Amino acid sequence: MASIHDLITSIASVTSLKELASIEQQLFGRKSGLITVALKELKDLPPKEKKEKAVAFNMQKRKAQELLEEKHTALERDYFAKHGQDTLDVTLSLPLKEYGHLHLIPEYIEEIKDVFGRMGFDVADGPEIETEETNFDLLNFPDDHPARDAQGIFYLAPTTSNTKNTKPLLRAHTSPVQIHYMKQHKPPFRMICPGKVYRKDADATHSPVFHQFEALMVDTHISLAHMKGVMEAAMRELISENLEFRWRTGYFPFVKPGLEVDVRWQGDKETKEGKWLEIVGCGMVHPNVLQNGGIDPNQWQGFAFGFGIERMLMIRHQIPDIRMFYEGDPRFLRQF
Ligand code: PHE
Repeated sequence: MASIHDLITSIASVTSLKELASIEQQLFGRKSGLITVALKELKDLPPKEKKEKAVAFNMQKRKAQELLEEKHTALERDYFAKHGQDTLDVTLSLPLKEYGHLHLIPEYIEEIKDVFGRMGFDVADGPEIETEETNFDLLNFPDDHPARDAQGIFYLAPTTSNTKNTKPLLRAHTSPVQIHYMKQHKPPFRMICPGKVYRKDADATHSPVFHQFEALMVDTHISLAHMKGVMEAAMRELISENLEFRWRTGYFPFVKPGLEVDVRWQGDKETKEGKWLEIVGCGMVHPNVLQNGGIDPNQWQGFAFGFGIERMLMIRHQIPDIRMFYEGDPRFLRQF
């Protein structure tokens, strides 16, 4: 069997890390390493001999450790020199890990809540299944109003107990939330309610499901001037500073007077300007609607508006087709 001295001498000619590990094991292995055992056996020797041998073994031990370490470093250096291109390059920039994130619509809804939150608006919620009563009647739609037509509205199969007024449907706008909110809250108040709405419509600027948010502010002495102030401030913050507005009169049964607003992004001279998109209907809440919500129209006034969320995003990001929001193409989604 090799002696401690032989093993130490052989370290110089070792050529692989594996061989080196074997020598280290033979010298320093926990149970039968020669140096380990020799040092352990010292305790049984007479004191004088013990002292002498301890000095000698410890010198060998230190020598062996030094040589092993030197050799280890040298073998590693040789290995990396030979396999240079495979080794770890800490200067390499790694590809960024991809993280998921919210779709741009729910992300934008958070931004909307934030902007209106700072203007004191509460966030309300309402059901997506409404009835003819809440989607139309209580919002002052006459019985023969064409918007009630099944060609535009997703009516759901009525149960036997449904009378005409409680016929269920997928809400076509967020305005029914006005009614629910008025019934549950005492003025003065201001609220917004974002959510999905459904219409039988499909082309580049219309989708059968899209998102709106309604705003309703009721107080004493509320006028159109308040409404315009709130709307313009919100649009500049949520869409762009560079906006042009076109305010037109419009008819909605639940407001009086009613207005529609078209907006376009106003480019600088070099870039092409965006096209006009109608993004919001608005007006002073009709007295009948206040009454239907349990609010005295002689004491209170209010304004309401309903924005199309996709339309706002289309102007903000110059998105040409509403269908891009729903196709789930990662090349589109990643941009936002
Ligand atoms: N509900 C209307 C629509 O969907 C928008 C609107 C809301 C108009 C509030 C006036 C007041 O087109």
